Amino acid sequence: MIAVIKLSGSLFNGPDVSGIISIAKVLRSYHAAGNGLTLVVGGGLRSREYISLGRKLHLNENYLDAIGIDATRINARLMIGALGELAFPLVGGALEDASLASSMKMIGVFGGLVPGHSTNAVAALVAERLGADIFINATDVAGVFDKDPRTHGDSKLLRQVSVGQLRDILKNGESVAGSYELMDSFALLIIERSRIRTLITSYSAPDIEKALSGQKIGTEVVFNE
Ligand code: UTP
Repeated sequence: MIAVIKLSGSLFNGPDVSGIISIAKVLRSYHAAGNGLTLVVGGGLRSREYISLGRKLHLNENYLDAIGIDATRINARLMIGALGELAFPLVGGALEDASLASSMKMIGVFGGLVPGHSTNAVAALVAERLGADIFINATDVAGVFDKDPRTHGDSKLLRQVSVGQLRDILKNGESVAGSYELMDSFALLIIERSRIRTLITSYSAPDIEKALSGQKIGTEVVFNE
């Protein structure tokens, strides 16, 4: 099996690193079982902090994105350190690096790549390039909800969501638990055109383990015929 996992940048907000340690353990054993694995890591709090400093300096959007990318790449480096010798030692700088790491049977780790994208888009592109069997978008919520779970006590986790539904959520700017962070329109375009099996789930180590072993967890993105 080949898996691509996007790890939300919030995993690296700290100060607690136990989540990173538990996830690294799960990933090591998935890799040891002979599976291919590539990670894409978000920027979290640090990228937002740096971008807001840059905005106060009136830097343009492209430059701010470059700052955001730098922050994602620091988190990626942290993840490489946490994985040790199993990880390709350099943060991925181009999609080809995913193929390179995979041909060396190592875990490739990426942050962002191009201004204007998000790390979700990078993860979708990597999954497409590698022909991944599964793309797991591991976030700080359990999946996609019918209503914002932070403000609606009766919100329900959707077990499946169609690409069209996700697109509507993005378009309407609905407050579905950080929905715009869960997926963006470019990432959706990629997973739809290549019909990449995609799960949106929490980044708790047990949930990632379940997702990797093919169990039903979080929200699965389904495609219209
Ligand atoms: P993300 O938005 O992907 O990370 O990248 P995040 O905020 O941690 O999101 P989650 O929680 O993981 O989903 C941080 C910033 O880096 C820039 C953008 O400015 C983005 O807001 N970026 C990232 C790019 O410009 N291009 C990329 O390929 C990735």
